[in-house]
Amino acid sequence: MKLTTQDIISFKGLTNEDVEKIFSEADKFEKIAKGEKPSELLKGKILGTLFFEPSTRTKLSFKSAIQRLGGSTIGFSRPEVSSVAKGETLADTIRTVEKYCDAIVLRHPQMGSAKLAAEVSKIPILNAGDGAGHHPTQTLLDLYSIRKNFGSIRDLQIGLLGDLKYGRTVHSLAYAASRFENKLYVISPEGLEMPNEIVNDLKNKGREIIESYDLKEVLPKLDVLYVTRIQKERFSDASEYNKVKDSYKINLELLESAKSNMRVLHPLPRIDEIEPEVDSSKYAKYFDQVFNGVVVRMALLSLLM
Ligand code: CP
Repeated sequence: MKLTTQDIISFKGLTNEDVEKIFSEADKFEKIAKGEKPSELLKGKILGTLFFEPSTRTKLSFKSAIQRLGGSTIGFSRPEVSSVAKGETLADTIRTVEKYCDAIVLRHPQMGSAKLAAEVSKIPILNAGDGAGHHPTQTLLDLYSIRKNFGSIRDLQIGLLGDLKYGRTVHSLAYAASRFENKLYVISPEGLEMPNEIVNDLKNKGREIIESYDLKEVLPKLDVLYVTRIQKERFSDASEYNKVKDSYKINLELLESAKSNMRVLHPLPRIDEIEPEVDSSKYAKYFDQVFNGVVVRMALLSLLM
């Protein structure tokens, strides 16, 4: 049972059948991911983890996924301790690391870097985030989390809230969720709207997408509220960041107007856009979403390696 692609560069590169295959595989890994059942499925396999940008969840969940399946990892989290610091190109780094392992997970600040890596690599490349580009394994775990909560990834009303300009997770999720006939509400502060090319592209494909600045007005309609932080590190001007940084906050008072089975997701890390009082409410599913990242990445590794 293989995927139609060797590399996971963007969600667009996956067919609906690929997505279903990944999700049915992921369902099988729950006990192994919790450490309740041993596995040697990927014994002897080595995953290269090349992180040129900080990460907690993506890096550690990939490491956890392969180790729970009996494999191991090599890699770096700080490019300054690799020969990149001496000026080695990404292409040469990939051509080297592919000689040491069976698949590479790459996070890099430059958009298009994962595609470039896949062009020079003979082993699978999994994009773990390329600047403001794509983060397809996050998109898969987001959709998988929706499926776990609603039993389906179709015909839902999904609100994407926050920094929709710089947030790569929401770009990928907008394409992915609308492919499955969900109605999208894109809600942002002024200046951080979903890029026009994405909105227009989705509208031209006949997908339902509604732009809004008013969360209170949209919230009662939603099945899923997908919150993202403002991406401070992508602002070149600190004063521009300060203007928008407190523009939305999810708290229990606000959630009183939500449907009782509405669910809040967040790719994390959060800063202060969801107040801690929400964490123990029935709405909060973002830490379950973190666990879903392990089973989805186990599924990907088992299908690709
Ligand atoms: N959601 C996500 O990509 O988190 P990290 O940046 O911690 O990997």
